[in-house]
Amino acid sequence: MNISGQYSPAPDRYDSMTYKRCGRSGLMLPAVSLGLWHNFGGVDSLENARAMLRRAFDLGITHFDLANNYGPPYGSAEKTFGRLFAQDFAPLRDELIISSKAGWDMWPGPYGDWGSRKYLVASLDQSLERMGLDYVDIFYHHRPDPETPLEETIGALDFIVRSGRALYAGISMYPPDLTRRAVEMLRSLGTPCLIHQPNYSLLDRWVEDGLLEVLTDEGVGCIVFSPLAQGLLTDRYLDGIPEGSRAARDDSYLSRSQVTDGVVATVRRLNDVAAARGQTMAQMAVAWVLHQSGVTSALIGASRPGQVEEAVAALDHLEFAADELETIDAVLGD
Ligand SMILES: NC(=O)c1ccc[n+]([C@@H]2O[C@H](COP(=O)([O-])OP(=O)(O)OC[C@H]3O[C@@H](n4cnc5c(N)ncnc54)[C@H](OP(=O)(O)O)[C@@H]3O)[C@@H](O)[C@H]2O)c1
Repeated sequence: MNISGQYSPAPDRYDSMTYKRCGRSGLMLPAVSLGLWHNFGGVDSLENARAMLRRAFDLGITHFDLANNYGPPYGSAEKTFGRLFAQDFAPLRDELIISSKAGWDMWPGPYGDWGSRKYLVASLDQSLERMGLDYVDIFYHHRPDPETPLEETIGALDFIVRSGRALYAGISMYPPDLTRRAVEMLRSLGTPCLIHQPNYSLLDRWVEDGLLEVLTDEGVGCIVFSPLAQGLLTDRYLDGIPEGSRAARDDSYLSRSQVTDGVVATVRRLNDVAAARGQTMAQMAVAWVLHQSGVTSALIGASRPGQVEEAVAALDHLEFAADELETIDAVLGD
């Protein structure tokens, strides 16, 4: 694929996307956001990455989500983004919400992992350099750290926002009780927690067990990652594991062993529900996370522009009839 020439964004890019308020904040996020975890690394095609970002933005996706260690290799998704940002998006900076994170392993030694102030501040400085940005819009602590005092991690997020490196602070994968403590702490420091980023999909509903309630109570937004369960909730694996798919790649976080007969049988039945709604499996999976009140945005991944288009088209049919929800629950309960 080769896209040449200067990028001019589609003039109608804001006409069909739905934008939702992120908790009790001033920030609106698109109902579908794009993450750069896979397919934007140094090993992947730059032109395909460019095509996906352009298509996403043309469809009204104003939010791109990154982390320090997205790649492979670590850091390379931010470098890819930085290159494409400089070439295509720099004049559009104020139309974009760009996020990054730190919390998982990034560099060797005791300062490149978990939740110390040392790690978080240094990591964000590195991320900004790789992306060629002065600031990110949202900076997350990527996962809870059982050893570092919460006060230190939260204090670092507050410092990061006050120092101008990020406009908003977020947390990812924090369980309900810890979320409440983190949110209260951030509020007391004067830097409200904008958003939580948990995984949520038809195949993993843990957030329904307390987290969504805490976020709604506290006025914190919720952007749910892997709504397609990394591709399992699409038609991708209904007839085996295709070459080039995420499960077939050695450098991905979806292994062949996760594509079980049981999962495929469940997805086949869900696919029938989707077809009866006039949607693809992927579209119903996106619509289903968005119909849950408290979810601000579905954070999808893609390996080609057409997948972004398919996910955005889910917004044409977000409502679920009671009997559809019952059938879905019954399939998942079996
Ligand atoms: N906070 C955290 O801890 C955390 C963890 C994980 C992810 N995230 C964020 O969430 C983002 C999304 O995660 P994800 O990529 O796992 O999301 P996902 O939307 O569940 O899965 C995306 C993958 O599904 C496949 N797919 C998408 N649309 C398809 C379609 N229409 N038909 C068939 N296959 C389709 C593609 O894989 P193929 O390669 O097979 O085409 C695509 O790369 C990440 O980029 C990252 O920003 C955050």
